[in-house]
Amino acid sequence: MMSDIQAVQARLVDDINAASDLDTLEALRVAALGKAGSITALLKTLGGMSPEERQAQGPRIHALRESVTTAIASRKAALDAAALDVKLAAEAIDMTLPAADTPRGSVHPVSQVMDELAEIFADMGFAVATGPEIEDDWHNFTALNIPETHPARAMHDTFYFPDANADGQKMLLRTHTSPVQIRTMMTQEPPIRIIAPGRVYRSDSDATHTPMFHQVEGLVIDRGIHMGHLKWTLETFLKAYFERDDIVLRLRPSYFPFTEPSAEVDVGYKQEKGRRIVGGNGDDEGHAWMELLGSGMVNRRVIANCGLDPDEWQGFAFGVGVDRLAMLKYGMDDLRAFFDGDLRWLSHYGFNALNVPTLSGGISA
Ligand code: PHE
Repeated sequence: MMSDIQAVQARLVDDINAASDLDTLEALRVAALGKAGSITALLKTLGGMSPEERQAQGPRIHALRESVTTAIASRKAALDAAALDVKLAAEAIDMTLPAADTPRGSVHPVSQVMDELAEIFADMGFAVATGPEIEDDWHNFTALNIPETHPARAMHDTFYFPDANADGQKMLLRTHTSPVQIRTMMTQEPPIRIIAPGRVYRSDSDATHTPMFHQVEGLVIDRGIHMGHLKWTLETFLKAYFERDDIVLRLRPSYFPFTEPSAEVDVGYKQEKGRRIVGGNGDDEGHAWMELLGSGMVNRRVIANCGLDPDEWQGFAFGVGVDRLAMLKYGMDDLRAFFDGDLRWLSHYGFNALNVPTLSGGISA
């Protein structure tokens, strides 16, 4: 009996240590310790023994069960650890590998320029404001001193919606970002300093016009504001944007119903290797002027339309074409390509998403 038990123990422990997977190990456990297992059968023989015999054999059989149970547990731990190692090795990710073969997106030049503008104007104390692209007639025209019969309405080539809103207002796609001036003056107490970037829509299409394009509106409302503040602001902005000091501006008298006086602002550039380079005087040889901005002192009537007293509050406003700013700085010459979604164009003119424009790190990085 004694040698029997030792032989069973040696064989079982050998088999257990040799088990190469968890299923084999489980089968061995059932064969030894299960209901019909060999060790279970041995334990059952204790009942039929004499007290002396039981005293002698009992501890041996229990020790056998103990050692087999321990062997199974330690083999199971070893197999579990090996399985985990295999799984971890298969799931390993090398974080240091470059993502060279994966398709990469890029930041569209329009988004990049809007980020650049927000950064530049934030430094001058301007907050970013927004308004709806689906506007009503009052905010887009009437409040801006463009009455129903005004020819400016025809000039804007407006996309109208077929139905009026609940107040009987004609609805339209905003033709400029100027309605954000109105929305801001009606909801914020002066002093106000905001820029409002966004999409605008006009029924117009050629190499330099698309039915949807982008503007940035600027608005300052405070006491004692005059044209000098406007000119300084635009000069400071354009020098920071084009990242050069020899920017020359030309202010031409103009007309907008919502500003009085009004000025159109051109920037001097020259053509170099088929590319427009901003800077220098437009009257020099090889130089020309590019119209960039509409601007002026906010019309008293507009200030009054927003419930403010024009004797107390004055201000200036400007509107810039964002797409034009991008073309001038980054050298594209067809505006339509901006909105074609051609991946070759996007990867050529697009920006790395990690190069966030900052004044300290470089506006166009
Ligand atoms: N809203 C005008 C346009 O789209 C531009 C402008 C804005 C002019 C603000 C003056 C002041 O043409």
